Amino acid sequence: MPRRRKVLTTPLALLLVAALSACRQRRLPEVDTSSRNLAAGRLIFERRCASCHNSNGDGDTITASRFHFANLIDGKWRGDGSLASIEKQIREGHDPMPKFEGKLTSEEIRQAAGYVLALAKANTKARP
Ligand code: HEC
Repeated sequence: MPRRRKVLTTPLALLLVAALSACRQRRLPEVDTSSRNLAAGRLIFERRCASCHNSNGDGDTITASRFHFANLIDGKWRGDGSLASIEKQIREGHDPMPKFEGKLTSEEIRQAAGYVLALAKANTKARP
């Protein structure tokens, strides 16, 4: 029954390709979190930011994927991509991103910004 086999293998092959590309997308760029600040930043990012920005920072989530600048690892920033401008975005937010002033301490905001920058740098390095 060669016909029947073909009917089954095509969707299976498609599923495999989809699963493989999903894995590739989700892979975390390497960030050295041996420093206390980066480790703290990562924890904050996972808890407060990854629901929109994805834990790898690519912003490919239901909430944020429509917004160009939600991708934090494509090297494109609305600001100048400096630590100060990233801190400002976190402090003040930018619709639809909420502001974190009053929800995170200044130190936590700085740590989160440092982690975002490290994530962005690690990804640039990982690209061919
Ligand atoms: C409710 C979803 C949401 C949450 C939670 C969220 N963000 Fe965002 N963020 C966005 C969206 C959407 C954008 C793009 C909007 C824009 O600025 O144009 C964005 C943009 C950014 C930018 C880009 C600024 C630039 O100059 O390009 C940074 C950096 C950022 N977010 C960091 C964070 C950090 C760090 C956290 C956690 C403390 C966080 N975000 C939490 C949705 C979110």
